[in-house]
Amino acid sequence: MNKLLIVVGTRPNFVKIAPLIKHLKNYKILHTGQHYSNMMSKGFLKGLGIPEPDYNLNVGSGSHAEQTASIMSLFEPICLKEKPDIVIVVGDVNSTLACSLVVSKIPNIKLAHIESGERSFDRTMPEEVNRVIVDHISDYLFCSTEQAVNNLLLEGISNNKIHLVGNIVIDNLVEHKKSITTFKSHTLFTLHRPSNTDDKETLTRILSCINGLNTNVLFPIHPRTKKKIEQWNLNRYTTNMDVVEPFGYLEFMSLLKNAKCVITDSGGIQVEAAYFETPCITLRNSTEHTFTLRRGVNVLVGNDMKKLKYEFYNIRESYRINDLLWDGKVSKRINNIL
Ligand code: UD1
Repeated sequence: MNKLLIVVGTRPNFVKIAPLIKHLKNYKILHTGQHYSNMMSKGFLKGLGIPEPDYNLNVGSGSHAEQTASIMSLFEPICLKEKPDIVIVVGDVNSTLACSLVVSKIPNIKLAHIESGERSFDRTMPEEVNRVIVDHISDYLFCSTEQAVNNLLLEGISNNKIHLVGNIVIDNLVEHKKSITTFKSHTLFTLHRPSNTDDKETLTRILSCINGLNTNVLFPIHPRTKKKIEQWNLNRYTTNMDVVEPFGYLEFMSLLKNAKCVITDSGGIQVEAAYFETPCITLRNSTEHTFTLRRGVNVLVGNDMKKLKYEFYNIRESYRINDLLWDGKVSKRINNIL
């Protein structure tokens, strides 16, 4: 039986491995520590039923280079000691890139990438750079959509490494269907991309626009955004919102399911919103989850607040997506292949 080492580092990574580990045997989990605050890490892992990781590199925050380099130098000796047959990485964060690069230079360890082939075609996004590099050095590429498969083929990646298995995040939603309860209708708002949070004028424009919407806004706040709002004293632009600490997974999914709309710059939330038929307005100029745009359940507004207001007050009907691969069996398929 193959010996597996699963790498995670950030909140969206935890969501992707939760269903997977229910099917895998003979694995260890390594947490890079890229996310470390309780509700971004330990508390969130617990809520998803993920056991305490076998390793935690505790790298914490830093510039892209610092974070990536620290993870690489701490991960390499563990990899050499553990000698797994396959290292599994998920998504597109710095932890994914750092560990993939290490594995690609150690003989006899294969690299498996889950959520492979997603492309926003926007190289200004650090995550897009991470995605492209990781895919080109992976041995098993697990894709969520046919579009992702096509993206990889167009980049010259060999067909026999590519496996269309479906979107693993949906496995969670199918599994927890019954525990995802109903709340009153509200607008859910999340924001954490540096392109939206790290420029005072942009952040002010976004907050003041959303604060002025005629709706009940619930704003679970990412630590980066919280710091920026405090640093620039922008609390006056959040007075009409319910600003709260990050939620656990199931609680957040219940809120998303029952929101009349979600305004976000997250990647994963676009997919989860599509599953719940919750209209999504995305504060980005591009998305790697292009299927959500084609199906009309998601719209990109960048940081154009006029466009945001227009979309918000003219919300389209969202409709059920009948995706055959949204059957809750993605992890099973991956397990069979590995
Ligand atoms: C990272 C991912 C992003 C993903 C996001 C999900 C990269 C390049 N980015 O962005 O793709 O959408 O995770 O949240 O890998 N902080 C804390 N506590 C924490 C984590 C972060 O206080 O537990 C603060 C720190 O000030 C830190 C900042 O948030 O500097 C950003 O954290 P970082 O891990 O660099 O990136 P994210 O913005 O979370």
